[in-house]
Amino acid sequence: MKILAIETSCDETAIALVEAKGELKKPRFKILKNLVASQIKIHRPFGGIVPNLAKREHLKNLPILFQKIFNIRTSDVLNIDLIAVTVGPGLEPCLWTGINFAKEIYKELRIKNKELRIIGANHLDGHLYSNLLNSKSYILYPAISLIVSGGHTILLLMKDLVRYKKLGETRDDAVGESFDKVARLLGLPYPGGPEIEKLAKYGRQTAIDFPRPMINQKNYDFSFSGLKTSVLYYLRDQQLKTKNYKLKANVAASFQSAAFDVLIYKTLRAAKEFKTRSILVSGGVASNNSLRNYLKLRIKNLELRINLLIPPKKFCTDNAAIIAVAGYINYLQKKKHHLNAQGNLTI
Ligand code: KG4
Ligand code: ZN
Repeated sequence: MKILAIETSCDETAIALVEAKGELKKPRFKILKNLVASQIKIHRPFGGIVPNLAKREHLKNLPILFQKIFNIRTSDVLNIDLIAVTVGPGLEPCLWTGINFAKEIYKELRIKNKELRIIGANHLDGHLYSNLLNSKSYILYPAISLIVSGGHTILLLMKDLVRYKKLGETRDDAVGESFDKVARLLGLPYPGGPEIEKLAKYGRQTAIDFPRPMINQKNYDFSFSGLKTSVLYYLRDQQLKTKNYKLKANVAASFQSAAFDVLIYKTLRAAKEFKTRSILVSGGVASNNSLRNYLKLRIKNLELRINLLIPPKKFCTDNAAIIAVAGYINYLQKKKHHLNAQGNLTI
């Protein structure tokens, strides 16, 4: 079936056209188009996302992307079988723009295509299932899934694709959020994650001994706000030197290493405890090369027989192809979400 997917939960306006096949045991996807209009430049001067500006940009970008998707053959638009749209979590004014746009298209196309369906998708399911977009990746169960984005840090235990249990999550800031906040402390632009990654390459990760919050606690929860505060205090004490590039690079490398130590330690502990055969990592922070390489290395060094799956970077950060996948999995399960913005929807 052909799925038109729409994503507007945060600061990326995204529309994708994806061909989906197969049952829940082995769903398969082929991306026909995957367009993302980034709003980074608009929010950058403010150091973070301004919800009203984001909404305005979504309203402007949605029709443009829709046109681009169908510019080859307009008749393609009538071959869509399913419209999938993100209903949450995210910024509600932004979610509404996508939902209303999806509903309008649905109403319009239904006149000629009575079989057309519309379905709500959970943005977090999008990240969770993003590994399915890589036809070569095969998930062996049980699996541990680590979702690391700007709004969430969640560890799940998966019995199969649709039966999963939350083991833990962050109690305060999400890991991506802490990257963004630390970047701001260092005077780096928004979004902070890629900037910290770039700067960290020039620093020593053992230069500053930042705390590894909750690493020794038996639960699978996380906390990143204290780590950010430690960076704040460190920079305050070093006030006179904050213009020192080397010092900033050391802070970036040491902070990144502290955050990833906790993520990796708890993920591997869960994998060992539950004897899992795969580890899935997803979300914007999963596009960080240090995290990707360090996790791979730890699995190898510990001689764990675990299949590590991390999507290509373009499927880690927000896009609509992952929403098509989440929509298809909902469709197969006959799972329905109300077509209302649900800012605090969880997994
Ligand atoms: O998944 P995503 O695109 O949007 C949300 O659902 O939140 O994740 C965005 C987050 C931001 O906090 C951003 O700073 C972080 O992912 N991020 C990174 C990297 N690229 C994006 N964090 C660390 N290293 C990166 N390379
Ligand atoms: Zn996301």
